Amino acid sequence: MTAARTALVTGGAGGIGAAIAQHLAADGYRVLVADVDLERAQQVADSVRHCGGQAWSHHLDVTNGQSRRSAVDFTVSELGGLDVLVNCAGVLRDARIRVLEPERFTALQRINLVGPLALTRLAIEPMTVAGRGAIINIASRAWLGTFGSTAYSASKGGLVGATRSLALELGPRGITVNCVAPGFINTEMTAAMPERILQRIRAAIPVGRGGTPADVAETVRYLAGAGYTTGQVLVVCGGRSIGVPMAGVV
Ligand SMILES: NC(=O)c1ccc[n+]([C@@H]2O[C@H](COP(=O)([O-])OP(=O)(O)OC[C@H]3O[C@@H](n4cnc5c(N)ncnc54)[C@H](O)[C@@H]3O)[C@@H](O)[C@H]2O)c1
Repeated sequence: MTAARTALVTGGAGGIGAAIAQHLAADGYRVLVADVDLERAQQVADSVRHCGGQAWSHHLDVTNGQSRRSAVDFTVSELGGLDVLVNCAGVLRDARIRVLEPERFTALQRINLVGPLALTRLAIEPMTVAGRGAIINIASRAWLGTFGSTAYSASKGGLVGATRSLALELGPRGITVNCVAPGFINTEMTAAMPERILQRIRAAIPVGRGGTPADVAETVRYLAGAGYTTGQVLVVCGGRSIGVPMAGVV
């Protein structure tokens, strides 16, 4: 009998992370829902179990080395290994460059970029021992450029570059590294945006709707099992990265 596969999902208490945990658990993965918000992580794990999946919760602050080590060790010892790492924890605390203090810029990079790379480092050993592994970084379509979003775009662009380099370095170990770059997805992160901005974003999405966390989770589910696909960026944005729909055409 083959052992069940295991997945560590950071930011698992958030909108997209929770959907990823649900989808991977539905595929038979034993999932660790890890988040700085432990109470909500527990609720997500409860809801996965309620749907028949196997899930655990764990406190994780991706900016803290001990906390990262604890989450990876817990996954290996309690869930039985580490096959899939989904770096989903992230924040959108951005501003136009003239008012963006360097401290704020640095704090955002520590969560969105340094945290995922440091976790990747820790994942290499258990994945190498198993001779397989999949690392999936949740970037953003913003890496292509978004007005007023310099720090966030930089962090996500950094993830894209790192993903491509890591794919080359870790491929020989049987580890794939890919990025999912969501466009506008309806979660608490985007609900905090001003309504006038939300209206303009929605109007610019060719498929005519904002994305759902499940739209992103479907792509993560695919990449978790796609052993010959590595170093890629899958943009999940309803066509917005191609261009805006033309008014009055339909
Ligand atoms: N919602 C969107 O439109 C959208 C678009 C593109 C990319 N993304 C990316 O998707 C990911 C998930 O976003 P979401 O929309 O679900 O947001 P969300 O705010 O619902 O979830 C983010 C989660 O990350 C957790 N988190 C924050 N700081 C942390 C830390 N230091 N350590 C551990 N966990 C931490 C939060 O507690 C939260 O549960 C993020 O990386 C985000 O940048 C979101």
